[in-house]
Amino acid sequence: MTARIIDGKAIAAELRAAVAARVASLPFTPGLAVVVVGDDPASAVYVRSKDRAAREAGIAAHTIRLPGDTPEVLLLAEIARLNADPDVDGILVQLPLPPHIDTDGVIEAIDPAKDVDGFHPLNVGALASGHPALVPCTPAGVMKLLHHVGVQLAGARALVLGRSSIVGRPMARLLLAADATVTVAHRSTRDLPAECRRAEILIAATGRPEMVRGDWIGEGATVIDVGINRLPDGRLVGDVNFAECAERAGAITPVPGGVGPMTIACLLENTVDAAVRRRA
Ligand code: GUN
Repeated sequence: MTARIIDGKAIAAELRAAVAARVASLPFTPGLAVVVVGDDPASAVYVRSKDRAAREAGIAAHTIRLPGDTPEVLLLAEIARLNADPDVDGILVQLPLPPHIDTDGVIEAIDPAKDVDGFHPLNVGALASGHPALVPCTPAGVMKLLHHVGVQLAGARALVLGRSSIVGRPMARLLLAADATVTVAHRSTRDLPAECRRAEILIAATGRPEMVRGDWIGEGATVIDVGINRLPDGRLVGDVNFAECAERAGAITPVPGGVGPMTIACLLENTVDAAVRRRA
């Protein structure tokens, strides 16, 4: 089988157009604040993309760039200011933060109603208990891709590879909420290739370049690659060996142009959802 390529860029463009139409119909302008601390080059690229996409959708986006040696108290003061600003509906603090800053403390300082990343413990708990409010953008984007492909989720064997707070854990909860039979695999899982081969839906979020090989894929499986890894030769690859896995999968996302654009589109959707809820 040669897999159908899932065009995340095109699906994200549709979603962004829908968000822009929704923004245009609102009697106010939703506001998004993106905070980045330090000069991590990957973060700089992501933050620029988020800012541009928000503006294109008619959202008032402000990127706040703080030096890498910013004391934690100053970052917390900035978040308090954004929490109190009535024009700011969404606050996103780009991760990773420099090591001298307590990331959990910063996330907990964000007003849960403005937490468009869905990382605040209140939003994590809401998703875990089956009453999602603001849902993390990458797993939300993966769910939209799966719906777009038309893959039946109820009863399907889904394997999530990776258990990060940003992707793996919320991904598993969303799949469970859609009635999939969910396995979360990680670095201690025995016989990872065999676990993967059993999956009808495989979500790879390990951060290990091209770790998933062709013979790990069940014939006809839907493969979603969340990874974005820069190789020493400059190539951008996912967590999945695309060429090998496309031989066996039924459908597969490319890197780039798969999950990445969906993450940004879902951030815009979360911002508008937060704005509408806050200003209702
Ligand atoms: N760093 C990598 N992914 C993300 C994300 O989804 N949100 C934030 N804030 N930082 C990230």
